[in-house]
Amino acid sequence: MIRIPHIIAHRGASIEAPENTIAAFRIAQVRGVNWIECDVTLSADAQCVLIHDDTLDRTTNGSGPIHEHSLATLRTLDAGAWFSDIYKGERIPTLSETLDTLAALEMGINLEIKPSGCDAMLLAERVASEIGNRHDVPVLLSSFDPDVVAAMADLCPALDCGWLVEEIPADWKSRYDALKAAALHVDQKQLTAEKCAEITGEKVPLICYTVNDPDRARTLLSWGVRAIITDNPALMTTAIPPIR
Ligand code: G3P
Ligand code: MG
Repeated sequence: MIRIPHIIAHRGASIEAPENTIAAFRIAQVRGVNWIECDVTLSADAQCVLIHDDTLDRTTNGSGPIHEHSLATLRTLDAGAWFSDIYKGERIPTLSETLDTLAALEMGINLEIKPSGCDAMLLAERVASEIGNRHDVPVLLSSFDPDVVAAMADLCPALDCGWLVEEIPADWKSRYDALKAAALHVDQKQLTAEKCAEITGEKVPLICYTVNDPDRARTLLSWGVRAIITDNPALMTTAIPPIR
């Protein structure tokens, strides 16, 4: 699997900047973390945009489902003021502008493919066409949607795609193999020393979200977790020494 750092900033440095914005990605790097996780979905005109929720309401000054708005409309919205006046004017980023920014900053991306009500296979295809031929940004894909994980193995065979789960199914290993996944991304609350040993014993790279407690992060890393995804890169980089 692609080499990844042990700390990845969840939606950017989302504890101190509006999630899934260019500002949050830049601040993650300032805090010493050079990989970010972010969520991609489609606009009504099938453009890849970064936002977590199904609707615009929580993180922008718009409302309603993302996939019912064109890119041109989405780009008029404010995606920063809800968090703080400091970030007024932040826009919903496109995937291509995000990749350009990360390339310039020499950062990597865990791109979570999140259909959020759009056509999942169309999203998979659009992501593949935007990211598949870029060699200037290290990429790890992931998705909760098993059909998307399986599709990415065919659409982007050169890229790794992790399978995201909230709960670890009893038959996780056979399903993981069938999906041709490259890593298992697990809710950290599900993990015990025994479960980590079971997963890493199968030589499956294990990544977990969302870890904001440094003690828990240290424990998870000591159990063989490859990377933790955190809202608080400043705290994690302060508390946890670099792992070579
Ligand atoms: O990719 C890890 C994590 O982001 C998955 O959950 O809901 O924060 O996208 P969510
Ligand atoms: Mg996510």
